[in-house]
Amino acid sequence: MAFPPQFLDDLRNRVPLASVVGRRVKLAKKGREFQGLCPFHNEKSPSFTVNEDKGFFHCFGCGAHGDSIGFEMRAGHLSFTEAVEKLASEAGLDVPKATPEERQREARRASLHDALEGACAFFEKQLTAAAGREGLAYLKGRGLSDATIARFRLGWSPDGREALKSALMTKECPESLLTEAGLLKKPEGGGASYDYFRGRVMFPITDRRDRVVAFGARTLGDGQPKYLNSPETPLFHKGATLYGLAHAREQAREKTTVAVAEGYMDVIALHQAGFAYAVAPLGTALTEQQIEELWRLAPEPILCFDGDNAGQRAMARAAERAFPILKPGFSLRFAVLPAPEDPDSLIKARGAAAMQAVLDAAQPLAEVAWRLAIEGRPLDTPERRAALEKDLQEKALAIADETVRWQYLRAFKDRLWQAFRPARPQQQPRVPAQRGFRRPEGAEKLRSAGGRLQGVAAPPPPRPPYEMQERILLSLVVDNPGPLEHAGELLGMVAFTNESLDKVRRGILKHLGSVKDLDSETLKAHLGADGLAPALDTLLTPQERQTHSVRVYEDTGKVGRYWAEVFHLYTKRDLVADANAAASDLAQEMSDLGVRRVAALNDQVRKVNRGAEEEEDISSLLGPAH
Ligand code: UTP
Ligand code: MN
Repeated sequence: MAFPPQFLDDLRNRVPLASVVGRRVKLAKKGREFQGLCPFHNEKSPSFTVNEDKGFFHCFGCGAHGDSIGFEMRAGHLSFTEAVEKLASEAGLDVPKATPEERQREARRASLHDALEGACAFFEKQLTAAAGREGLAYLKGRGLSDATIARFRLGWSPDGREALKSALMTKECPESLLTEAGLLKKPEGGGASYDYFRGRVMFPITDRRDRVVAFGARTLGDGQPKYLNSPETPLFHKGATLYGLAHAREQAREKTTVAVAEGYMDVIALHQAGFAYAVAPLGTALTEQQIEELWRLAPEPILCFDGDNAGQRAMARAAERAFPILKPGFSLRFAVLPAPEDPDSLIKARGAAAMQAVLDAAQPLAEVAWRLAIEGRPLDTPERRAALEKDLQEKALAIADETVRWQYLRAFKDRLWQAFRPARPQQQPRVPAQRGFRRPEGAEKLRSAGGRLQGVAAPPPPRPPYEMQERILLSLVVDNPGPLEHAGELLGMVAFTNESLDKVRRGILKHLGSVKDLDSETLKAHLGADGLAPALDTLLTPQERQTHSVRVYEDTGKVGRYWAEVFHLYTKRDLVADANAAASDLAQEMSDLGVRRVAALNDQVRKVNRGAEEEEDISSLLGPAH
């Protein structure tokens, strides 16, 4: 409802902003402003300011901004009207009922609410009456408890033309009202109106304040449609409504999370299993309005999608919808269910822990957008990669908020760079490995574990290729110090980026060539005496030794060639790219290790450049064995 501007000004003047905010946020006076910890995002140092003179609050962390009404709306999860009514009653102001038309419209809405409430109570009653026996058995058969049925006010619409009509129609609740509420239907060719819902299980749809505004109605058999929904009415706009919202608000706020499923039964099953922060759109893709609504509950709603192709497409649509309206601190996460389950069937088959695992494995929008963009797409030529780059750029440019847009442009650029930095030898091709949406860890485990839920810890990250090469070079020398005696000269030219590997390298240099035909056991004993035993033991796993043919070689020529080859690959790797990556890591997070890594890499770049000028044939340095 529209309030006269004068009234709103009065209201703002009557309630000091600092006191409205002060009820929820501890404020400290700083000059002309107040400061505190922002209630709209997690922070440790205060970036939330209240300017009493100007009458607004602003958070420099998440960008939240508004006046006292806006604050109440966000902090209390209220609509504009609700916030105004709350502040007005606290200030002792009467809320004006504006124009006569508005008053009339309000009255009509109230009657519609009454009619729908009456219908809901009627359907509820029918469910436990004889007429609803089949419906009740159906719901029980789907695992719903009495408490759940009561909480969601599930019901039954009797299978007659006028069951509801004759029960509800009175002078105060005339046919026209029931028709406007979407409860009766007028035949197109004229004639008596009849019940819109017949012989179906009824799912009342409520608004944010838990007032019934519509129904979803499921057939028990194979009839079409499976779910019949109320038509659009003055109270019901499909795209602006979320099923289960009123029930979800409390826990969503408490846990600062909200989960979005696809269907009525999913929401109900989730609530019954303890995920009382679940909601669903009404059979359509999420609208911007629904996303905004979700953001009033939690900054990163988790959207759950089926693992099938339709689910993937729905995910892409949701991502696309969200991009333009992203704002600092607010995003979406995506959880993928193991096909062919939906939350309802997953919980039934594998329990709440399985569902929790799926939610825990939810991935951020940026990740999902990237994966969707590269999925099933050959990226083997510069042109194809350029097309990808362009697509990603367009996605990011659709973001209205400047800060978020910039962050996305940067994030996509980083990812492209990571994925397509010049390929290094021995490296797993990155893009093919990432093709196809990676199912969340949890979902994958669920399937492979045959129903038994295991931990969802990620496997250790693979070693960077260059580090693998360093480990191979060292291990080969430790196993074959005699044949690789001359490798010391080359090992002396490089510095390894990993501190502990570099210690081993220096240790080897100290002993290699100290005696003629140094054998492996002796070298290991020397290195052990230098305190390097732990580092030696962890150079390579048995699996890695096997994969990379690291062992004691009989054929000294063979091991010499192999070592030279690895060393060649190692020095010819894209050092510049590595150095840049290390530098950008360092810019993100200062650390001693980071500084050392950058220095070592830059040093290597210089050395390799020098080496290239001299065109030295490194294998010749390996001496007669070669
Ligand atoms: P689904 O077809 O995936 O059904 O529709 P479901 O939710 O798993 O339902 P059950 O488990 O078979 O009972 C998902 C949602 O799409 C909307 C409904 O909101 C439904 O919950 N829908 C589906 C309709 O509105 N009409 C339909 O005919 C089908
Ligand atoms: Mn289902």
